[in-house]
Amino acid sequence: MTSTRFLTGITTSGTPHLGNYVGSIRPSVRASLRPDVEGFYFLADYHALIKIDEPSRIQRSTLEIAASWLAAGLDPQCVTFYRQSDIPEIPELTWFLTCLTGKGLLNRAHAYKAIVDKNTNAGLDPESDVTAGLFMYPVLMAADILMFDAHQVPVGRDQVQHIEMARDMAQSFNHRYGQHFTLPEAAIEENVATLPGLDGRKMSKSYDNHIPLFAPRAQLQKLIAGIVTDSRAPGQAKETEGSALFQIYQAFATSEETAALRQAYLQGIAWADAKQLVFERIDREITPMRETYLALLNDPAKIENILLSGAAKARKIATPFMGQLRQAVGLRDLRTQASNKAAKTAKAALPVFKQYREKDGKFYFKLVEPVGRVLLQSLGFDTHQEAAAAIAALQTPAGLALPSLQARLQAQNGVTESDISAALDQLAASA
Ligand code: TRP
Repeated sequence: MTSTRFLTGITTSGTPHLGNYVGSIRPSVRASLRPDVEGFYFLADYHALIKIDEPSRIQRSTLEIAASWLAAGLDPQCVTFYRQSDIPEIPELTWFLTCLTGKGLLNRAHAYKAIVDKNTNAGLDPESDVTAGLFMYPVLMAADILMFDAHQVPVGRDQVQHIEMARDMAQSFNHRYGQHFTLPEAAIEENVATLPGLDGRKMSKSYDNHIPLFAPRAQLQKLIAGIVTDSRAPGQAKETEGSALFQIYQAFATSEETAALRQAYLQGIAWADAKQLVFERIDREITPMRETYLALLNDPAKIENILLSGAAKARKIATPFMGQLRQAVGLRDLRTQASNKAAKTAKAALPVFKQYREKDGKFYFKLVEPVGRVLLQSLGFDTHQEAAAAIAALQTPAGLALPSLQARLQAQNGVTESDISAALDQLAASA
């Protein structure tokens, strides 16, 4: 059986809540139990430094997230479970990737752009409060992924762009130095719920509408009692549609249990009774884990040891791989002869056409420079063949078809006609 490498990290910037459990911890622990999956699970504490400047909070969060994963059933014997900052090869790889990532590519990262837009709208300097660390976030994340040849990275939609960037970096590196990296893919989990919070919006720390995963029972009950409902009285039929309480229940219940609650809503169950039912259902799943969690929190040495052995296991891969990469880029032992042979056969870095299919079912392509800058971006074609024909037309003879295809292409900011024809010429010359 061929196994899939599955990798996921959680930033150690806070205490896990029910939304993190349902959206990330529970599905990733389930995936770790599949025999065809080889899992890499890590605490992204270098990422935490980007947004947290309280040392004790980083330490506490690392402990809590590690304990949560273990309490939820992650088995460090079956997966590689480690702390990012125990792997010095990761920042080293980050630097290698930094050196071939176009600054323009990072300028287009959603998370960075969102802050720039927010600053601009507030009349502030666009770069206000933007550290170089925040700007470089996607490169560090790419290093996490590429270091372990991950095939599948389960992420929410907001993180898909980061995986695409990691692919672009892997491609640039492979282009320049030969085939070293596997191209990762985002695994979007369709049937994983996004949990609403107490106020009905997405459960999130930043909205302050969250329920801590391992809140004590009494607090869990109290928080659930505070979930927004409408003002329908006992005996009046209730709507399941748009009911945060119902959605939260659904994330924990079997389909029979969910159907029963739907029926109870129709029959006018009192909100207080529905809340009690939801509390009991969640508590049934959480209580056994909570005990393990609390025991682990009281035994930090145990977690530390688990993480250190995880790091040793991870470095069995990372250290030799990094050695191979150092060799590839030319950070070499001076006693060895420079191998010109390899240099001659390595292809010069060329722009590439990349074809892909979008959610809308249409076929697209883009022309990307080795540093990751997008030169051309097509609109959607109905078939793969049409997209391929357009790419072929662009390449033979170089650039002549460009004007006739203009209507199918989107202009790219800052890219000139001559950038494009230079890239097409370069491709034609290498063909
Ligand atoms: N960005 C993720 C988060 O916000 C954490 C993370 C860091 C990650 N590196 C990763 C996730 C690599 C998946 C793969 O929690």
